[in-house]
Amino acid sequence: MTFPAERLGRSCPVLCVILLATPASADQSVSLDSLQISAGARVFSQSCLPCHGANSPSALDLTDPIELHRKSPTAAKIVREGVMPPWLPSEMGAPLMHSRKLSDVDRTALLEWLDHSGPGKVPATEVLPPPSQNCELIVRVAENWRVGADPGLTLRSFALSRDHAIDRHAAQYFNAVELVADAPGLVHGISFLWDELGYGARLDASDPAPGYDAVGDIGLNASGSGGGVSRLSTLWRLPKGYAIEIPTDAVLIAEVHAEGRGKVESPAATVRFLAPTEPFKPVHAVSVSAARVAMIATACEAVSISIRAGAHVKSIDVFAKDANGHSRCVLNIPRWNEALSEPWIFDPPLALDAGTELFVRSTVNEVAKDTLVDANASAMNQPMIVLLVADKDADLIREK
Ligand code: HEC
Repeated sequence: MTFPAERLGRSCPVLCVILLATPASADQSVSLDSLQISAGARVFSQSCLPCHGANSPSALDLTDPIELHRKSPTAAKIVREGVMPPWLPSEMGAPLMHSRKLSDVDRTALLEWLDHSGPGKVPATEVLPPPSQNCELIVRVAENWRVGADPGLTLRSFALSRDHAIDRHAAQYFNAVELVADAPGLVHGISFLWDELGYGARLDASDPAPGYDAVGDIGLNASGSGGGVSRLSTLWRLPKGYAIEIPTDAVLIAEVHAEGRGKVESPAATVRFLAPTEPFKPVHAVSVSAARVAMIATACEAVSISIRAGAHVKSIDVFAKDANGHSRCVLNIPRWNEALSEPWIFDPPLALDAGTELFVRSTVNEVAKDTLVDANASAMNQPMIVLLVADKDADLIREK
């Protein structure tokens, strides 16, 4: 259900939207420890620990020295074979930031470390310095939702009213989103949409339980057009010089993906939207699916790409076909893993000329081919791709 603004102030003190007037953190110093560990250990920390720490997506905790000691030979073997890190976009697509892809130099350093000095010495998980930006707003997401014990991903959407304390007349922008989950690892990902029409709020209100049982898309606007975070990318940040507008009076829709872990748990999380610190171009969403080719009308720069696709999807390709009919691959994921999905940032931003057509090709596994599915499941078999793009010639916006 939705929480109308007038109820917020009185009875839901922690809920929904709080305005932070002060900068997020005054302390911007970064620990020097990370500079003292070897290159291989640093690669391990950056490329492996996001999935192999405590509470992370795989059951294997390599921050445990005994486990690391035991698994080092296997780890070295599968890194040599290119098995780990897994499920990443391939080199065929456009370059991405923080893709955890190993360069040759990094792979050599990691193998050296795993072979010789790794066991027993576990580098601390890479901790990002606290964002030094002003926080635009904080929301509590999925409050009061309980995820059951059964494994298997579940999805639920939530409509979150904005507190009337926020100055509605001021244009508001953000260029980063930070996820702090109450129970880390339980929530796989949250994608956002700013709903100006109120459909999401109505759906939420008509469902007696918290949230509603459908994807967060509103009409042709796909969830993810307001950015997204995942347990692998808890701080999602657009490149400098780009930001997303929060439309006046819009309701925030959060589409939450979580997975049971053997007990009933609350996937509630705190999400912070961070204001841009320098002049920027506003971005808007372009969504693409098998059923929907997107046409780029004005030359633009794509800065972010996110995907929603179910467990039966096997591979995903996104192509850009220019006005001369020449196609290039923008994103290629040879082996899709729903449980390890995350939003990606193009680095550098991807130039798309006017007249470019974006389209998707994907395959599904044998299970999906053999099973008759309902409309919901069949939608999840068709990846929904959201690109955030800025018009190439857009004027820079400077917020006061
Ligand atoms: C995107 C997430 C992800 C990343 C990044 C990742 N792994 Fe894994 N890894 C997994 C998953 C999932 C498994 C399957 C085992 C499980 O479910 O726990 C696994 C399994 C393993 C295993 C056990 C294999 C076996 O046969 O016993 C080792 C060792 C391993 N990974 C090492 C690494 C190393 C070294 C890196 C860094 C180069 C790495 N992983 C990066 C997700 C990841």
